[in-house]
Amino acid sequence: MATNKATSKKKTDAPCVSHSPRPQQVPDGVQGVATVSNGPSSLVKTKQRVADHGEVFTPAWMVEAMLDLVKEESERIDSRFLEPACGSGNFLVQVLKRKLVAVQCKFGKSAFEKQHYALLALMSIYGIELLADNIAECRANMLDILTDYLNLDASDNLYRAASYVLSQNLVHGDALKMRTHDGQPITVAEWGYLGKGKFQRRDFRLDVLACSSAYSAEDDLFSPLGRHEIFIPTKTYPPMTVSELAAAPADEPKEAL
Ligand SMILES: C[S@@+](CC[C@H](N)C(=O)[O-])C[C@H]1O[C@@H](n2cnc3c(N)ncnc32)[C@H](O)[C@@H]1O
Repeated sequence: MATNKATSKKKTDAPCVSHSPRPQQVPDGVQGVATVSNGPSSLVKTKQRVADHGEVFTPAWMVEAMLDLVKEESERIDSRFLEPACGSGNFLVQVLKRKLVAVQCKFGKSAFEKQHYALLALMSIYGIELLADNIAECRANMLDILTDYLNLDASDNLYRAASYVLSQNLVHGDALKMRTHDGQPITVAEWGYLGKGKFQRRDFRLDVLACSSAYSAEDDLFSPLGRHEIFIPTKTYPPMTVSELAAAPADEPKEAL
């Protein structure tokens, strides 16, 4: 799993609740977050899948211990997490739960802010998964957490906006080849919250971003290309509201949920 420690204009840290131990320290209003199912109960689906895809899921205790290694980031609403072999979301679900605890702490008293920052928390979580059933489960597991927390139903704009975000951020594809299942380059949506209900979005190619981190490790390689050339988005969107995200064109998502 990779995290992005880059700072954004408006910091949304809320390290007001520790996750170890839990759930005693989970504040009122987020019990749903703390008790929703933690993905598959078995760590293996079939022996064949283990042999073919190395599919062995991580147990909950180990997920928690690993997230505790990046505790502050996992509890920051807008810190970015990418899980390049996300399975059905054992890590991503727990990251979302931690972020939602921070949302509750910081914005729990205002329904408007709570809803928008909860969506921002979801927007900061990314996954790639080779197998279609796993990525579908991952999206459904993430959506369950958010809908339970915000008490949404399927007709709500926020529910549909969250479904759209998940269809963009959780990609059915090959993380090694950095291609979607139908051979397109994987793009990553950089979301930001502008305030007053508006979100911004810029898309970047994953292979270009991955090159940039290799280059930045070696200054002499990075310099000729130039940072400005690496961080050119493939697409920049106008600011969007929840209703606009909910109504995003059906043919635009990379994947239907
Ligand atoms: C060891 S499991 C881990 C799943 C999840 N991260 C967890 O910890 O529970 C590895 C997952 O990576 C997926 N996978 C294998 N090769 C992949 C690739 N090249 N790109 C994306 N996902 C891949 C498998 O389908 C499987 O779901």
